[in-house]
Amino acid sequence: MVMSSASQHGSELKARRIVLLGPPGAGKGTQAELLAQELAVPHIAAGDLLRAEVQRGGPLGQEAQGYMDRGELVPHELVVRIVGARLAEVGRQGFILDGFPRDLAQAEALEQLVQVERVIHLVLSREEVIRRLSARLVCAGCGQNYQHLLQEGRCQRCGGELVRRSDDRPEVVAKRYDEQYNNQIEALLHFYRELGERRGLALLRTVSGEGSVETVRRRLLEALG
Ligand code: AP5
Repeated sequence: MVMSSASQHGSELKARRIVLLGPPGAGKGTQAELLAQELAVPHIAAGDLLRAEVQRGGPLGQEAQGYMDRGELVPHELVVRIVGARLAEVGRQGFILDGFPRDLAQAEALEQLVQVERVIHLVLSREEVIRRLSARLVCAGCGQNYQHLLQEGRCQRCGGELVRRSDDRPEVVAKRYDEQYNNQIEALLHFYRELGERRGLALLRTVSGEGSVETVRRRLLEALG
C-alpha cells in the first residue's frame, strides 16, 4: 500500500492516546481532526458529543443544553458518563481527546478510565480567541467550522447551511474563556506535570495556537514526535 507523506509521518509518532487542552477557539477541534487523520485514531470531542445529545432531545441533552448556552461546564457525572462511554467504544489503542478534561475532577476521572500518553496545551491569547469565535460559522448539517470572511453561503463538505453557534456570543465566549479555561488550567497543568514526573516522562507539552492552521499543525506534530 502506498502511504501518503502525512500517514508515513503519522506512523512514526509514538503517542496515540492524546489529550488536547486549551481555551475555547484555540483550534483544538480543527487540529484534532487533522491529527486524527494523520494517526488514524478517532477524534473524541466532548463538545460534539454533548451537542449530539442536545440534538437527540433526550433528558441528558436537555440537561446539558442550559449549561452550554450559558457557557458553563456541564455537570461532572453527565460529561464523564458521555465521554467515558465513547472511550469505551473506541478502546484504548488510540484517540485524540478534545475538550476533556476541563478541570481536575475530570482529569482524575480520565486517569481511572485510561492512561494518556501525551497532553498538549494549545495556547492562544484571549483577544485572538474572541476574534476567532466572533468570526466563526458552523455547518448546521455536519458541524464543520469556518471563518466568515473566508467562507460564505453553504458548507463545502455537505452543502449545509452555515450558522453562528449559540454559545459564540461575545459575552458567552468571555465567560467560557474565564471560567472554563482560565480558572481551571493551572490545576490541570499541575496535575499532568506531576503525573509525568511520577511516570518519568515528559507527558505535557505546550504549543502555540497562533498562526495558520498549517503552522500550528506542524508544531503539534513536532510536539508529538
Ligand atoms: P466545545 O464545543 O468543546 O467548545 P470549546 O472548548 O469552547 O472549543 P471550541 O469548539 O469553541 O474551539 P476549539 O478550540 O475546538 O477551536 P476550533 O478548532 O473550533 O464545548 C462547548 C460547551 O460544551 C462548553 O462551553 C461546555 O458548556 C460544554 N462542555 C464541553 N466539554 C465539556 C467538559 N469536558 N466538561 C463540561 N462541559 C463541557 O476553532 C475555532 C474557530 O477558529 C473556527 O472557526 C476555526 O475555523 C478557526 N481556526 C482554527 N484554527 C485557526 C487558525 N490557526 N487560524 C485562524 N482560525 C482558526
